[in-house]
Amino acid sequence: MNTDVVTREKIIINGKSVLKGKIKIGGAKNSALALICAAVMADGEVVLEKVPEINDVMVMLDIISSLGAKVTWQESETIKINPPEKITSHPPYSMVKKLRASNLLLGPMLARYGSAKVALPGGCNIGTRPMDLHFKGLTGLGAQLRLERGCILAEAGRLKGSRIYLDFPSVGATENLMIAACLAEGQTIIENVAKEPEIVDLANFLNCMGAKVRGAGTDVIKIQGVERLSGCSRYCVIPDRIEAGTFMVAAAATGGDITLENVISTHLEPVSAKLREANVEIIEGEDSIRVIADKPLTPIDIKTMPYPGFPTDLQSQMMGMLSTVAGTSIIIENIFENRFQVADELKRMGANIKVEGRLAVIEGVEALQGTQVKATDLRAGAALVVAALMANGRTEIYHPDYIYRGYHDFEDKLRELGADITSV
Ligand code: UD1
Repeated sequence: MNTDVVTREKIIINGKSVLKGKIKIGGAKNSALALICAAVMADGEVVLEKVPEINDVMVMLDIISSLGAKVTWQESETIKINPPEKITSHPPYSMVKKLRASNLLLGPMLARYGSAKVALPGGCNIGTRPMDLHFKGLTGLGAQLRLERGCILAEAGRLKGSRIYLDFPSVGATENLMIAACLAEGQTIIENVAKEPEIVDLANFLNCMGAKVRGAGTDVIKIQGVERLSGCSRYCVIPDRIEAGTFMVAAAATGGDITLENVISTHLEPVSAKLREANVEIIEGEDSIRVIADKPLTPIDIKTMPYPGFPTDLQSQMMGMLSTVAGTSIIIENIFENRFQVADELKRMGANIKVEGRLAVIEGVEALQGTQVKATDLRAGAALVVAALMANGRTEIYHPDYIYRGYHDFEDKLRELGADITSV
């Protein structure tokens, strides 16, 4: 097991591969990040299994270590976290700027230790990504928040349960508030919450630590505050639906036939439905899914929406796939306003895509041509890999570090499926 952050100059792919075979999907990045933050407020040891060994997780573990938590890798994909008794420092900006999800430390630090100082977070450049809903909710729970020299400073005595309405079902705000409310006095009701599977996973984990969270997965979450949260002797992170979805799209794009193990097929319903519409056969097993793309694909329209709508995190990969599907496909991006940057890179490979605000119109071309391109964010990087697998000739993808933020063993898994891929 290598727990260092992976860094490379470029990924090189010789195209026209047809993906075939079987691979195992890892634990969900977005779940693991929230669970690691929540573990900081436990009063005892936490053991998490199926933690993906990706760069974002390594950075988050460094951040909580800098706060005094003791983190030990036990075996592959299993970590033991001993939270600090008290927090005397704040996460360094050099780490926080690498990771948007570091804002998820606000809730647990405030609730357990009474104060938090977190630099305004970084992460992928896919939109303005404000934090007003986090602020509104934490203020509603009785915290005082202010911004000072690029840092969020938050203070509170014991938080007080409250009724909070989210103007938009933000994943991060739902997580932050759900975590904070676990140690608040009395009941908290959060309305119009996110319903993503990662929210349900976090609620299950919090309950495993002795919290009383009900309703995760619906529009309203009710939390009865408790005095303290215990540790958790074992908790297994759910499979990564975005990693699975990326391989499904890659298989569809290359006319492949692959089976993914360790998946929850209901979490993949939005992507399975769209791939079926595009003429791909999807066979759901007990904890596996098979994707067979032996017929020509047909154009489709996609609108990204909060779960159970189509995930914004798979939109770019779909754009890559649709760029060679004969006919006109349309994508409407409703979550992040800046998520079409990959279109320019795909155009360098010969795609015909017009972007107007939140709308992208894709006219399928016969084939893409390999060339030099650059990843502009994590999922854009994955989309370029999908495009390069389909393309004629050799593609070099620069800034692959974006990809390593969210995909573990991506190249090995693709090689196992028959791709000609290396990195330098
Ligand atoms: C999480 C995921 C990310 C995914 C996204 C949407 C993690 C670590 N990341 O990001 O991979 O793409 O959900 O499914 O779990 N918003 C506000 N005010 C706020 C918070 C959010 O206006 O206070 C807006 C954002 O600008 C965006 C939308 O809400 O337009 C969705 O953001 P949100 O659900 O919060 O995404 P993240 O939690 O950052």
